[in-house]
Amino acid sequence: MAKSASELPVEKKYKLYEASVQNHMADIEFIQQEFKALRGRKPKSLREDFGGTGAMACDWVKESKENTAVAIDLDPEPVEYGKQKHYSRLNDEEQGRMKYIMGNVLDRYDFKNDVTVAFNFSYFIFKKRQELLQYFKSVKDSLHEDGVFFVDIFGGTECFQEMVEETEFDKHSYFWDCDNYNPLTGEVLYYIHFKTKGTKYEKVFTYDWRHWTVREITELMEEAGFSKVVTYWEGEDEDGDGDGEFYQSKEEENCESWVTYIVGLV
Ligand SMILES: C[S@@+](CC[C@H](N)C(=O)[O-])C[C@H]1O[C@@H](n2cnc3c(N)ncnc32)[C@H](O)[C@@H]1O
Repeated sequence: MAKSASELPVEKKYKLYEASVQNHMADIEFIQQEFKALRGRKPKSLREDFGGTGAMACDWVKESKENTAVAIDLDPEPVEYGKQKHYSRLNDEEQGRMKYIMGNVLDRYDFKNDVTVAFNFSYFIFKKRQELLQYFKSVKDSLHEDGVFFVDIFGGTECFQEMVEETEFDKHSYFWDCDNYNPLTGEVLYYIHFKTKGTKYEKVFTYDWRHWTVREITELMEEAGFSKVVTYWEGEDEDGDGDGEFYQSKEEENCESWVTYIVGLV
């Protein structure tokens, strides 16, 4: 049976989303490891841009009593879910070190941090070069002198094909639907659908994006004033699948589908 997204309760919507696309502990481990390697110290303050439910920011403050975090998002719906599901599970002391900001990542804020992240490709929302450059400049200005900006990015030969990819989990299926790719503008339209207990909920999330390339992001970070930009690639296990370990790299062989990190150093 197929139902529209509006019939999926908000609580289920974000529960299914987080279970399907997020792996915060792996991201946090990568940030801590790479920040230490690049800057010779532990990062303490995190700004999670496009934070949605702020799940990562909540996990960040649980990692150490020295850690602080802010999660910035425009949309009250995921923020409210995050407050009820993630923030409420922090103790009082941890809550004192984590803050949600209902705001625009393009705005200037009066605090600086060690690390800013823009994950799950959220910055693809900026379709114009000038908009993305403005965003990268404001991130650079919001970082400490030795701050580091982490983004993720995906690509591969399959990513411009209009197709639906299904991933099965124990109790639900997740569908990543590339509905449209415009080869002349790089604009893409993606949907996320979920199937749970025999019911498929269509178009639960819609992403009207520009698909940026690693080269474009690297050059825009440099133009925004980052002194160095580092690209990464994921290692392989014996079956040729990604092993979750990312290493610095400048040249790799393309494949059907890949996800990796790009890091900008102030
Ligand atoms: C793809 S979701 C990413 C959520 C989360 N970061 C993750 O990793 O799953 C994109 C989020 O960006 C938010 N968003 C879009 N434009 C924004 C902007 N200019 N400023 C702040 N948040 C924005 C949306 O409300 C949405 O929650």
